[in-house]
Amino acid sequence: MKKVRTGVYGLNALMDGGINEHTTTVVIGSPGAGKTTFATQFLRRGLLDNDDAVFITLDEAPSEIVKNSKLMGWDDIDSYISDGSLIFVDAGGKQFSHFIQKELAEFVDEWEGHNARIAIDPLTPVLWSVKEKYEQRELVSYFLRETRKIGTVLCTLEEHGSVGDLSAPDLVIPMYLADNLIHLRYASLESPERRELKIIKCRSSKHSRYWHPYSIMKGVGVYVRRVEELTRRRGVAKAGKIVKEKALSLDEDRLSKLSPTAKDNFMKTIDALSEQDLVDVDPDELLDLILEEYSVEEKEHA
Ligand SMILES: Nc1ncnc2c1ncn2[C@@H]1O[C@H](COP(=O)(O)OP(=O)(O)O)[C@@H](O)[C@H]1O
Ligand SMILES: [Mg+2]
Repeated sequence: MKKVRTGVYGLNALMDGGINEHTTTVVIGSPGAGKTTFATQFLRRGLLDNDDAVFITLDEAPSEIVKNSKLMGWDDIDSYISDGSLIFVDAGGKQFSHFIQKELAEFVDEWEGHNARIAIDPLTPVLWSVKEKYEQRELVSYFLRETRKIGTVLCTLEEHGSVGDLSAPDLVIPMYLADNLIHLRYASLESPERRELKIIKCRSSKHSRYWHPYSIMKGVGVYVRRVEELTRRRGVAKAGKIVKEKALSLDEDRLSKLSPTAKDNFMKTIDALSEQDLVDVDPDELLDLILEEYSVEEKEHA
């Protein structure tokens, strides 16, 4: 699958190079987490790569978004608007949900063959515009399926209630339907405030499984740091090494109880262990279990 760059500093490396083209990404965050900034960066990257961009804004007026983009240091935004490569759709939840039901198909036909970037910020009012959960699901599912025909889609979602609790129905439905899911966890009440990002899912890609601190900076926007991952990796490498070293220095006494075949299988298992998977593993416990497994095999064959 072809990757598109996210436009978010530091994020591509954590997503195996970027976002898969023609997929849907959901970005979840509480107020101030950086969702609108993220969406703007995503579209801007597309514009820089000569793709078209559609910004569907449900909360803020386009003029607000343009103003904030400029404050962020992205002065070139006007030129994309005037040459028609950046289009704003300014809608309310009900209005946009009506558009999805009545006019989206025609819009998609018109744009067929395009490779646009489409951002909808936030998707939440669209969900709230219909009552029943199954209707919400139908609506979002149809919207995502159709729009990704014409490009790579990014939806933001408002996180309400306590930060980190992603069980609200208006989060769960889009979370299930999206190809990729990114959580901007913003603890605004802590002092100093804390911002961390995690890629919760990213279909068909090897992605980071850790929380990464991020900041929002003028000129750059959302900037994700690898720090956390690096520290973890060092820990992981250590855990992996410990398991392997311990296996090699295992008491000859214990190993000698195994047949040559079982011993061979035991060593193969140890070799196959991936350091990535050994983060929270107790090396002794794991070794005992593997050893026990092959001893059982031994007994069965005896
Ligand atoms: N020009 C700027 N310079 C530095 N930080 C900014 C700038 N503009 C916005 N921010 C930061 O971004 C945050 C808001 O981001 P935003 O994308 O609007 O969040 P959300 O859409 O999730 O509510 C602000 O709280 C502020 O910390
Ligand atoms: Mg916003």
